Amino acid sequence: MSMHHTEKNYQAAASMAWQALDSHYKQMRYLHLRDLFADDPLRGQRLVANAGDIFLDYSKNIITAETMALLVGLAEACHLKQKIAAMFRGDVINVTEQRPALHVALRMPEHAELKLDGINIIPGVHAVLRRMAAFSEQVRQGVWRGYTGKRIRNVVNIGIGGSDLGPVMAFEALRHYSQRDLAFHFISNIDGTDFQEVVGRLSPDETLFVVCSKSFSTLETMTNAQSARQWLVAKMGSEAAVAKHFVAVSTHAEAVAQFGIAPHNMFEFWDWVGGRYSLASAIGLSTMIAIGPDNFYALLAGFYGMDEHFHTAPLAENLPVILGLLTIWYNNFFGAQTLAVLPYDQYLKRFPAYIQQLAMESNGKQVTVDGSVVNYQTSPIYWGEPGTNGQHSFFQLIHQGTKLVPCDFIGFCQSLNPLGNHHDLLMANFFAQSESLAFGKTAQEVKADGVLDHLVAAHVFPGNRPSNTLLVKCLTPATLGQLLALYEHSVFTQGAIWNINSFDQWGVELGKVSAQRIYNELQHADPVLAHDSSTNSLIDRYRQMK
Ligand code: F6P
Repeated sequence: MSMHHTEKNYQAAASMAWQALDSHYKQMRYLHLRDLFADDPLRGQRLVANAGDIFLDYSKNIITAETMALLVGLAEACHLKQKIAAMFRGDVINVTEQRPALHVALRMPEHAELKLDGINIIPGVHAVLRRMAAFSEQVRQGVWRGYTGKRIRNVVNIGIGGSDLGPVMAFEALRHYSQRDLAFHFISNIDGTDFQEVVGRLSPDETLFVVCSKSFSTLETMTNAQSARQWLVAKMGSEAAVAKHFVAVSTHAEAVAQFGIAPHNMFEFWDWVGGRYSLASAIGLSTMIAIGPDNFYALLAGFYGMDEHFHTAPLAENLPVILGLLTIWYNNFFGAQTLAVLPYDQYLKRFPAYIQQLAMESNGKQVTVDGSVVNYQTSPIYWGEPGTNGQHSFFQLIHQGTKLVPCDFIGFCQSLNPLGNHHDLLMANFFAQSESLAFGKTAQEVKADGVLDHLVAAHVFPGNRPSNTLLVKCLTPATLGQLLALYEHSVFTQGAIWNINSFDQWGVELGKVSAQRIYNELQHADPVLAHDSSTNSLIDRYRQMK
């Protein structure tokens, strides 16, 4: 069959699958979760799935078995299986940058083989991991000393985007497993406040900077790293101190050397690892120093377990596929604009921010892989806060507002900090929220509580607000790895169905270039401003007031 025919068949099959779902949606939108549960007493046992240590209950979604079958049909029509295989094979799926997206290679065991241009890349991955492990142990055990001979007490990760959110999220998530005589800090923002508030409290002779940047040219990171270097050299009185207090993580050895960090203090990764997919690479160095190599390897094994599940499980039982398809269901049929990620665990406080970059930088796109403009919605807005804090702020809107906000509830059966009845209270709220969202409270039930007639309407909860529940025994490095890979592959599934490139991010470029030009205009009063009237007068006002 010619390429042309294959492409036409693909489009025809995909469009039939979309249409079938659209007609199905027109019936489903009138159903209520109350009725779906009443009609099938086993629904809560039926619409569940398992992978590794993660249990997913997706029964509180506005779906039937037919919905799932149609969604899986859509995935098949969009060649999801073939696209998964292409990613794991190392095909050039990031077409605009002409690269594979091989973060899954970072998690493969040492004996695995994955060839890129005829060369097995797995030994290189493990060689870097071994160097990271050796270095981490030196810092953890106090063998690595600062310039004046003192042991390192502070590790400061300097990076932004994937070179920050991964490290900070993982450190916070696994803080319980971290070595407590080391303190970890993160500087990302170009706002000098971020730098001052971290560095102002540290002794330079006990501080190690880990400069993380895939490109080693990102303005924020380079500016913060230069300031850190100046601060260190000024305090220590010698350029020679840099070698003992700076290491780099990058794909760009030359730029690292130019900055003044020697090659033996650089930990390498590769252009086939996207920034937001890089935590399992050397970008995880600060995490490894915090939790130790064994725990870091357990994190990788967790990722790998979910990778294997995604790679091999049938679509209908595949956790990331199910999550991805449900996101499509609400985003493209119900018109939901957002998705709330709600971890009921304080350690996961940066998890929603991490998932936000993962999903929105990957799938916030308007053209397909072949460059045509889409005529359907792509990524929803991901957002969230840890429970129960969210309940006392934005949950009002989720329960009674006019917008549909599908929710992912993430909870753990065991607390890492058992304290009286705290954990049962936390989890009582966890279960109560998804139950209330789904089933609500009718006017009749409100009246039966004795609420005055004129107040009944305000007390009604419409319910039928969908959610997923992810329930895990305990937050460990391995279960964190599984959760992260679960979301990565859900994002992949969505991108595959929208037929977009989830691995580039051209949308961040325009503002970067414009900022360079404006920066020059802020340095001197004379350049004539040639922006629009709004930008011109804002810059003028700033120049006068600075
Ligand atoms: O914001 C764009 C971006 O390229 C992200 O994709 C990336 O995570 C971040 O900047 C940092 O890039 P780098 O690691 O090259 O400094």
